[in-house]
Amino acid sequence: MSVWTIVVAAGSGERFGGDKQTVNLCGRPVLAHSVIAAGTVSDGVIVVAAAERLPAANGLLSGIEGAITVVVGGATRSASVRAGLRAVPFDAEVVLIHDGARPLATGALFARVLAAVRAGADAVVPGVLVTDSLRSVGGKVVDRDGVMAVQTPQGFPAHLLRDAHALEPDASDDATLVEAAGGTVVVVDGEPENLKITRSGDLALAAAIFGEIETSTGANSHD
Ligand code: CTP
Ligand code: MG
Repeated sequence: MSVWTIVVAAGSGERFGGDKQTVNLCGRPVLAHSVIAAGTVSDGVIVVAAAERLPAANGLLSGIEGAITVVVGGATRSASVRAGLRAVPFDAEVVLIHDGARPLATGALFARVLAAVRAGADAVVPGVLVTDSLRSVGGKVVDRDGVMAVQTPQGFPAHLLRDAHALEPDASDDATLVEAAGGTVVVVDGEPENLKITRSGDLALAAAIFGEIETSTGANSHD
């Protein structure tokens, strides 16, 4: 089964305060970590970047092995995914979607998501239990035991992902779109360390976690 991964990195990084994909995290740009992890399970990786950052994206990816194509993204995350999908070969069987802003996702997580797609799932998401107490924005208590935080990489049979995007819908992730199109979502164990770099303080947090993973496993965290 041919596997292609789309790494979306065309956001503006507004909450971070600038481009968060090219900043250095433990010796590599944030985006490079995501692309290397994706490459461990993929026949090819499509990186989606903002038009003005295309040269920077091409530059930072030039040293990474594997089939990597960079395309220009859209105004929303879903539009950027569609830009990536247009570059995925027609005969691809599985498509994984990953946020460039999640540099700590391991190759093992990619493999777990892929295995669940191969086992027949319509849509696969990594989920982690929430540790904070929760309230709705209106102030009402939300039962923590009834919710999970959903991460990327997410995985799909290519035809279901294409069908879900056909009418150009918008959502914060792709499993939501496949589910809206009639698919069933399977949750696999996510990684609590797989944080999304959102605010500037997240970079130092990611560096600390990265160091801990390397120390505890004695290996590169992408293995
Ligand atoms: N993304 C994208 N195209 C967009 C919007 C988002 O490819 N038009 C990507 C981001 O680059 C990121 C992922 O989707 O890797 C998750 O988005 P988020 O964390 O919200 O990143 P930004 O949109 O860049 O940040 P902000 O919302 O603070 O501007
Ligand atoms: Mg955003």
